[in-house]
Amino acid sequence: MDIVLSGIRSTGKLHLGNYFGALQNFVKMQHENQCYFFIADYHSLTTHPTPEDLHGNVKQVLAEYIACGLDPEASTLYIQSDVPEIPELYLLLNMNAYKGELERCTSFKEKIRKHPDNVNAGLLTYPTLMAADILIHKANKVPVGKDQEQHLEMTRTFANRFNRLYNVDYFPEPVAYNFGKELVKIPGLDGSGKMGKSEGNAIYLSDDAETIRKKVMKAVSDAGPTQPNQEKPEAIQNLFTIMKVVSSPDTYQFFDDKYTACEIRYGDMKKQLAEDIINVTSPMRERIEAILSDDDYLRKVAKLGAEKARASASQTIKDVRRIIGFREF
Ligand code: TRP
Repeated sequence: MDIVLSGIRSTGKLHLGNYFGALQNFVKMQHENQCYFFIADYHSLTTHPTPEDLHGNVKQVLAEYIACGLDPEASTLYIQSDVPEIPELYLLLNMNAYKGELERCTSFKEKIRKHPDNVNAGLLTYPTLMAADILIHKANKVPVGKDQEQHLEMTRTFANRFNRLYNVDYFPEPVAYNFGKELVKIPGLDGSGKMGKSEGNAIYLSDDAETIRKKVMKAVSDAGPTQPNQEKPEAIQNLFTIMKVVSSPDTYQFFDDKYTACEIRYGDMKKQLAEDIINVTSPMRERIEAILSDDDYLRKVAKLGAEKARASASQTIKDVRRIIGFREF
């Protein structure tokens, strides 16, 4: 059985792209694999959130994960800062992580270019913390997007370096896991590219009906096709791509036929699209709200997750300490 691990940054809410992308696949795979899903709140400290934001964001993401179908019983769903073994492994790995290789990391170079006033050590050692997240459970499959592949490569480097240094075969090499054909890429509403928080083109699972209607009606479209069977420009294709996942096949076909016949009215299509998105998201939004107002339940979930995560993590730390040479008298 594979040990699958995924971390999510605790900044911000989930959008349709997160849901139809990785999250839906997590929900499916949690029963066939040993899955660890955690909220990376230590990582979020590199940008210095206020205490209220830090806590509020963690709570939001936890509630949204559960509302989308992650099962705290079937998988291990936890908050990074509840597992003190992670920072301990991070410290130990940092002793063999070199300044040069950390500085060469693309995401670090990007960060210092964008935020030259906040080049902190946490940012530099972000890849070591991520390696600790993964190696603490000896995970072998890590679902990550393209932007995280270099971090995974560094995790393999750190794991192999540890094994070589101490002449052990302890840490497995984690590999990136992409869902292949199953991964649905949801485009944004701004006419190009994928849906993303920083792009400002997203529909959030927690958006209410009115907000969704407004966003969809404002989505980029064009004056419409001028000849039958015309190829769809990107902005229009994007609307159809979203429609494919949220609407019924009949609805999709109806508007596709209208497009082909040059009879499409984007206003009608957007109205329908908005209602179908609302249909998909409103049960989730209701669950998110119910979970957010139930602190007892959230406390129980966090506690269960921390217990399960620490059971695995403490075994790793015990082994690692012995391998390194920490001994009791
Ligand atoms: N760095 C990841 C991101 O920005 C989040 C993350 C932290 C992560 N630790 C991880 C992802 C471990 C996978 C495994 O999306």
